[in-house]
Amino acid sequence: MYKILLRQDLAPNIHLYKFEAPDVAKKARPGQFVIIRIDEKGERIPLTVADWDEKEGSVTVVCMGVGTTTRRLGTLGTGDFIADFIGPLGNPTEIDKFGTVCCVAGGFAVAVVMPIARAMKQTGNKVISILGARSKDLLFWEDELRSVSDELIVTTDDGSYGRKGLVTEPLKELLEGNEKIDRVIAIGPSIMMKFCSLTTKPFGVKTIVSLNPIMVDGTGMCGCCRVSVGGVTRFACVDGPDFDGHEVDWDLLLARQKTYLEQEKRSLELWQRQGGEHTLGFERP
Ligand SMILES: Cc1cc2nc3c(=O)[nH]c(=O)nc-3n(C[C@H](O)[C@H](O)[C@H](O)COP(=O)(O)OP(=O)(O)OC[C@H]3O[C@@H](n4cnc5c(N)ncnc54)[C@H](O)[C@@H]3O)c2cc1C
Ligand code: FES
Repeated sequence: MYKILLRQDLAPNIHLYKFEAPDVAKKARPGQFVIIRIDEKGERIPLTVADWDEKEGSVTVVCMGVGTTTRRLGTLGTGDFIADFIGPLGNPTEIDKFGTVCCVAGGFAVAVVMPIARAMKQTGNKVISILGARSKDLLFWEDELRSVSDELIVTTDDGSYGRKGLVTEPLKELLEGNEKIDRVIAIGPSIMMKFCSLTTKPFGVKTIVSLNPIMVDGTGMCGCCRVSVGGVTRFACVDGPDFDGHEVDWDLLLARQKTYLEQEKRSLELWQRQGGEHTLGFERP
């Protein structure tokens, strides 16, 4: 059993969980993920490591409630336990002295980008970050990301905070500007990563994305997470999750992510009929 040492609400439906997981904390690197299971009958879901503390033996993840398992996790709080916490899985993000690195984070993925931006900065890169969300209430860790960036641009789709518009607009301006951008890291919803990759492609700037296909085992055995990159079938769990965004077959990824929409909808309805968010009958601070 893995104990939740801390749960924090970061934004509506987005929560931070610090788990007691000393073995994972010893080995975690930016860009890697864990697979968790809430209980014996639970579904396995991948979540990226947002932080870790080897001394404390803890690993932090940030989870957005989108379906049954992530919403069930949302009912757990500090002091609760889950059944499985496996990792670190996947390859770490390539960290090197590239020069100027632009880190683009969409929505909750700021938690995924944070350790990458920090490592890029510590390695001697100039880091320019772009943080985007649909609206102000969904933004979090702005100060944290600023603290590891030389420059930070914040956008909201509805203009409720920062600059109004999508992350691709300041990204394009940076690429058109005087400063040479040596690498772009773009992490967020697939559609955002697709359009960031389309934005950088004409400029020939290598763009790394973190793919999020449906995963089951996370160890290369089931084939569920297969994606097409450069015309070759790759397994995101063992060959990724980071890939060159210019090579990804985005339409295939977006279509495969929708494979079980009907079953996911029915599963959520069933859970909600059985009590849903009220199943555990307690309110969390
Ligand atoms: C490598 C990786 C890292 C991820 N990191 C994070 C993270 O740090 N924080 C976060 O909030 N989310 C993360 N996700 C997405 C998260 O795993 C899904 O939101 C979650 O699995 C949805 O499960 P559900 O039962 O709540 O929703 P469901 O209703 O089952 O699914 C909702 C949607 O989520 C996707 N999904 C469903 N099951 C899986 C699965 N087993 N694996 C991957 N995607 C699935 C599908 O596109 C689906 O349409 C990551 C996904 C991957 C592949
Ligand atoms: S999740 Fe099974 S092969 Fe990648």
